Amino acid sequence: MNANATDFPAMGAKNIDEAARIGQLARSGEQMVERLRRTSFLPEHKKSLNIRFGIADAAELLGCSTNRIRMAEQDGRLPIPPETETGRRVGYDIPALLNMRQVLGASPHRAPNDPPSIIAIQNFKGGVGKSMVTTHLAHYLAVAGYRVLVVDCDSQATTTTLFGFNPHVNITRDDTLYPYLSLEPTQDDLRYAVRQTPWPNVDLIPSNLEMFDVEYELAASGVNARGGTLVSRFRKLRAGLLSLAQDYDVVLLDPPPALGTISLAVMQAANALIVPLSATTPDFCSTVQFLSMMDQVIEQLTRAGIQVEYDFCRIICSKFNANDPSHAMVKQVMEQAFGPALFPVPILESAEISHAALRMMTIYELEKPVGTPKTHKRCRMNLDEAMLQVEQLIRRRWRQPSVKPTAAHLSAN
Ligand SMILES: Nc1ncnc2c1ncn2[C@@H]1O[C@H](COP(=O)(O)OP(=O)(O)OP(=O)(O)O)[C@@H](O)[C@H]1O
Ligand SMILES: [Mg+2]
Repeated sequence: MNANATDFPAMGAKNIDEAARIGQLARSGEQMVERLRRTSFLPEHKKSLNIRFGIADAAELLGCSTNRIRMAEQDGRLPIPPETETGRRVGYDIPALLNMRQVLGASPHRAPNDPPSIIAIQNFKGGVGKSMVTTHLAHYLAVAGYRVLVVDCDSQATTTTLFGFNPHVNITRDDTLYPYLSLEPTQDDLRYAVRQTPWPNVDLIPSNLEMFDVEYELAASGVNARGGTLVSRFRKLRAGLLSLAQDYDVVLLDPPPALGTISLAVMQAANALIVPLSATTPDFCSTVQFLSMMDQVIEQLTRAGIQVEYDFCRIICSKFNANDPSHAMVKQVMEQAFGPALFPVPILESAEISHAALRMMTIYELEKPVGTPKTHKRCRMNLDEAMLQVEQLIRRRWRQPSVKPTAAHLSAN
């Protein structure tokens, strides 16, 4: 699948429009993305979920004893878990775990009157870890038994890719938010866009490059936030997500890294905000700009009659390298500037996260460590702790707000 040498004339060759190469590069890159995807998802070229948990891990996740699980298996309330030919238990997969939660009354679902959390993972700075936080939080919550909807609002479609879809091949514009938000909408109920993922309790509204047409169309409609089409689209997204959210415990929104119409729509559709940034001075400065821009935008939206209300608003350091003294210094600066709005536990920068990303996976999807078991365990423990901070805030408004740190520190078999 190497780019054919004849497709790429040597540098300096005459009559070659350098700009024309961009299309060739894009096509070559798209083919490579598909190849990576197919290699990662062998043998069926389709993403599947193969993680399994031992009985001790399952008991810890459910907050019960292993005996309780064994008894339910013996009296037929739960199926006997499959064994290998040598009689070894293969462990519980996610569907088995979800069934176990239901049968043993260990489901963390919100009560019907509890508000679902609709969280925007937002920062106008690019590459700060928005999609990494979105996907890891989705999978952490899924292991913990919640019903999660992930909405990829970014035409770069990183999150869509991490869920196993090739945005160039598997997704069309009509599968994205486009038909719902376009100037001439063809959809009035967001359910058309919801698709299943390899996780039984995580659904996805995917994205692809053509979703960007929403930005063009709404910008070209020549209206501002004070009225007209833009305000009506904002209201529409908010209403549509709120209606969808009734089927879930948590909705996660992954917006693009820019102050465009989609970002504004996401900002006002959410009822909670998480701002990721790495522990570097440029990220800190950009995030300060982001927050002050948000402040102004919220004021404008309020004047236009759109109320922005968040249950919580937190900043998370998403790539912290404890061995880098400059990271420690910037983290201190962040603590001073943001106080309790900064989550105390940062997400550590880890080769395990990059290795998993290379396989188009999150840490929660790895069947076994990619690096050393020690690196993997450290990374997983840190992510569990970091994500638990979010879980606790989500549950704060629910009738049963307490949460045991059950998901913490478990490693899939
Ligand atoms: N804690 C981490 N450890 C190692 N790598 C990380 C970590 N967090 C993020 N990354 C890597 O950093 C890169 C950027 O992350 P990500 O795509 O999540 O950022 P983003 O804010 O969504 O970017 P964009 O603005 O383009 O949407 C990715 O390659 C991701 O795998
Ligand atoms: Mg992203």
